[in-house]
Amino acid sequence: MLKENFEIRPIQPDDKDGLKRGLAMLSSESKRQRFFSSRKDFTEKELAFFTEVDQHNHIAFVALSKKEDGPQPAGSVRCVRDLLHGRPDFAELAITIVDCFQGMGLGKALLDALAEKAVKEGIHYLYGDFHASNIKVQKLLEGYCVRHHLPAGSFHLQRQADGFLYFEMALA
Ligand SMILES: CC(C)(COP(=O)(O)OP(=O)(O)OC[C@H]1O[C@@H](n2cnc3c(N)ncnc32)[C@H](O)[C@@H]1OP(=O)(O)O)[C@@H](O)C(=O)NCCC(=O)NCCS
Repeated sequence: MLKENFEIRPIQPDDKDGLKRGLAMLSSESKRQRFFSSRKDFTEKELAFFTEVDQHNHIAFVALSKKEDGPQPAGSVRCVRDLLHGRPDFAELAITIVDCFQGMGLGKALLDALAEKAVKEGIHYLYGDFHASNIKVQKLLEGYCVRHHLPAGSFHLQRQADGFLYFEMALA
């Protein structure tokens, strides 16, 4: 079903327009959960950062819905290696599924694709922040650990003072 209706592939420089269209399709709630703001557009610099990636220190995939009138942006996932803090086996995760495609297993499929590639590139932990009200992403991350039979403690949450949760998660 997912494979029939969606294509998942590494992001490319010519996905800039797709990312802009995807942002325009996102609800304000999803924008807040992903960007912690009511983001309206990306700058050219951000689009270059998001799409011109080396797939080693910055790994990113997109999901496209296979429509008769041409592919539609459905979601993206990325992780950026934590070179800043000298943790080359850690990478910060960001994931977004366009609202009309949420709850269909696309988040799981994108996370699995990213995790497989990340491990091949020497990344063994993902980390990031999400708001404590974001149950969907928490379930998505916990579900990854269950699906891949990771030992207890592979997914670690730390409550922040500002209502956010910081997570670290081992990869299979
Ligand atoms: C979080 C997000 C990526 C999940 O993507 P998705 O495609 O909807 O998730 P999936 O359909 O693959 O489901 C993954 C798991 O999430 C949970 N989930 C999905 N939709 C849910 C909902 N409406 N309520 C509660 N849990 C939900 C389920 O546990 C599901 O696993 P299961 O079906 O095996 O139980 C998506 O909701 C999203 O893009 N949200 C806005 C941006 C965001 O919050 N990004 C994360 C911060 S960077």
